[in-house]
Amino acid sequence: MKADVLLGLQWGDEGKGKIVDVITPKYEVVARFQGGPNAGHTLHFDGKKFVLNTIPSGIFHENCLNVIGNGVVIDPVILKREIENLEKQGVPVSERLQISRRAHLIQPLHPVLDAALEKAKGDEKIGSTLKGIGPAYQDKTGRHGIRIGDITFPDFIERYHQARQRHLQMLNQLGFTDFDLEQLESNWLAAIDFLRQYPLIDSENLIHDAFSQGKSVLAEGAQGTLLDLEFGTYPFVTSSNTITAGACTGLGIAPSQIGEVMGIFKAYCTRVGGGPFPTELDNELGERLRKLGHEFGATTGRARRTGWLDIPALKYAIRLNGATQLIMTKADVLSGFGKIQVCTHYQVNGILTQDMPYDIKEAVPVYQEFDGWTEDLTSISDYHQLPVKLKAYIEFIEQHLKVPITVVSVGPDRKQTLFRNAH
Ligand code: GDP
Ligand code: IMO
Ligand code: MG
Repeated sequence: MKADVLLGLQWGDEGKGKIVDVITPKYEVVARFQGGPNAGHTLHFDGKKFVLNTIPSGIFHENCLNVIGNGVVIDPVILKREIENLEKQGVPVSERLQISRRAHLIQPLHPVLDAALEKAKGDEKIGSTLKGIGPAYQDKTGRHGIRIGDITFPDFIERYHQARQRHLQMLNQLGFTDFDLEQLESNWLAAIDFLRQYPLIDSENLIHDAFSQGKSVLAEGAQGTLLDLEFGTYPFVTSSNTITAGACTGLGIAPSQIGEVMGIFKAYCTRVGGGPFPTELDNELGERLRKLGHEFGATTGRARRTGWLDIPALKYAIRLNGATQLIMTKADVLSGFGKIQVCTHYQVNGILTQDMPYDIKEAVPVYQEFDGWTEDLTSISDYHQLPVKLKAYIEFIEQHLKVPITVVSVGPDRKQTLFRNAH
């Protein structure tokens, strides 16, 4: 068996949580492989809404084991809150969730360091979610990190105190004093104690054993390809590898054991935080997209920037991920837009290209215009019932991207998902 991967092709928030939940019945294991509580994955079903930050989006399905892989960074306080919220609503999380002992911990001063570093950047700030992701991964790669498996060691507290000392020195250098360490630390230690009841496992072995037993595995990405540390719009990126390769390192899966790669994108584009965005609509149209698409962050509530679909960026993302299938979400949001633009090429230094330039700020988008459609899509249950103009839009995108669009999402609910088998 191989692991399928579902991940974002844009700047995050493409609807990964919704689609993972929809396809989980096909899988026996769903695993997160990178990122941490900077993610906010929203699911709607049976009139209820859930937002998951650290827990994989397969958690609502009875026969699915959910794994937090080694590549994830865990904030114990946030994870505890997530678990308690779900348990309160009757989801038996403890029966369905296992955590890699190799996953690194976000420590109490990591979010504080995030805030201090952002403040120091001034106008150049990244617009981080301030969950401590960057500082936690920095400690990991700097080989100072603390892994969740370390909580079982007798010298765990000593290790933590050493790390805290280093963090306090850094904050001192940055002149940042706006935090209450005692409060942060007591919450953190209480949450660590709470998490002791969860099995800490070697997720790499669990996944390989699952393969040997013929079980199906889905790796769930967080953030999106254009936020990838290596290939995103650096430095306006996150601190992990959000691409398919991240599923290999973040779960211990060999590249040859990757199966289908499902790349998900919105019918338009959004970005939250700073950084270049060639097709951004910094005008009334953008405001309309934001309103109709409810484009406000699931984790931070921040308004998302909005813009037209960007084909060169999607092509780049497809290439980096080896996407074998595409999923398009939020097609319903475009209903009623008289004309829809799609960026088909960039003009870079006067040359027309579909390649991603080193400095994306230099890319001037070249658009093709489409007639929009007016029909409400949210109660359509069959792909063939979609308006002809939307189908033309989908087929045009597919022709440029040369990868089949197999799923079209027309609303936030599980049921508002159209599978397309016209290939
Ligand atoms: P994720 O981070 O990729 O899981 O995406 P988010 O949950 O942060 O953001 C996607 C938002 O769009 C959520 O509020 C979803 O409920 C919603 N959503 C997902 N698919 C669709 C869709 O096809 N149409 C509409 N209107 N909303 C959608
Ligand atoms: P999901 O999984 C959208 C963005 C932040 C910021 C940059 C760095 O819900 O798609 P970080 O907190 O990682 O240091 O922030 O990345 N960002 C996201 N944007 N969706 C996300 O996750 C994001 N996670 C981080 O806004 O610009
Ligand atoms: Mg999100």
